[in-house]
Amino acid sequence: MASVQGLELVEKDASGVDTQFRADILAGLSQSQKATPARWLYDDAGSQLFEDITQLPEYYPTRAETQILRGRGSEFAHMIGEGRAVIEFGSGSSVKTPLLLSAIAPAAYVPLDISGDFLRAAARDLAQKFPGLPVHPVEADFMRQVALPQAVAGLPKLGFFPGSTIGNMVARTAVDLLRNMRETLGEGAQLLIGMDLIKDTSVLIAAYDDAAGVTAQFNYNLVRRINRELGGDIPIEGLKHEARWNDEYARIEMHLVAQSDMAFTVDGRSYSMIAGETIHTENSHKFNRRTSNMLLLASGWEPQARWLDDRDRFSLILAEAKPNRSAP
Ligand code: AVI
Repeated sequence: MASVQGLELVEKDASGVDTQFRADILAGLSQSQKATPARWLYDDAGSQLFEDITQLPEYYPTRAETQILRGRGSEFAHMIGEGRAVIEFGSGSSVKTPLLLSAIAPAAYVPLDISGDFLRAAARDLAQKFPGLPVHPVEADFMRQVALPQAVAGLPKLGFFPGSTIGNMVARTAVDLLRNMRETLGEGAQLLIGMDLIKDTSVLIAAYDDAAGVTAQFNYNLVRRINRELGGDIPIEGLKHEARWNDEYARIEMHLVAQSDMAFTVDGRSYSMIAGETIHTENSHKFNRRTSNMLLLASGWEPQARWLDDRDRFSLILAEAKPNRSAP
């Protein structure tokens, strides 16, 4: 069964389970290093847990990025100008998006999100805060190229991708996404993108393994979701949340570590883990000026400006989809 909302499709099977979720989880659990795409952490419970994470004392990225958005509004207005359609990749947060919108006076706002409920709630919230602003929510998987609403066809575009969500993708996927964004937004568009920075490992580990255990619950929630939606019997209490710094790839990795040998089934298929083996559930890449520039340039985006918070923890980068021209 396919549910149509906005301009895109999310394929669900007869039991209401996302067919891509089933395929990704079964394939990921069959690998020698078990690994599941991070996007599946975000069902309703996972999205709520992520909201809780953003309030944690150890989780600095949201506060650092908000500080930049709050403090640099006049510079955004100068570099971006008025009258753009702001296309937000992800349904938007009640704090960050209004800061950007009030700084640049856009002509329209288009939130894109795969989770319809969060999307509609965010769109309602924004429409209330900005009564004169046309809001056109689109339920879509923003990893693919998206057809934008006709109403914004003639407007200059600004893509907004805050939160360092780009860091949750391996380089190949990040380049695919940034190129798709370029296609979605068109030549001449701008992109304002958040990228978290490389810093002291102890600060990073604490941000992804907080004392209150909220990030651990966020990780365990994926197992709950697999068990519930795919008829699994993975023993959650036999798995331990772990955040690891992978220096080679400049990323924090979330893992679920088997505390003893275990066997389980998902969707009628048998799987096993030996003690110490892990399910790798998320990457969160961290950047510096050169690596963020390289990622953007490799995807057809030319960096124009870069802002950091007052403790150099997080960066917001403005880039432009310049026409391709010959280079040496
Ligand atoms: C959404 N994303 C940018 C978060 C991050 O920091 O990588 C997800 C997250 N995972 C654990 N804590 C937060």
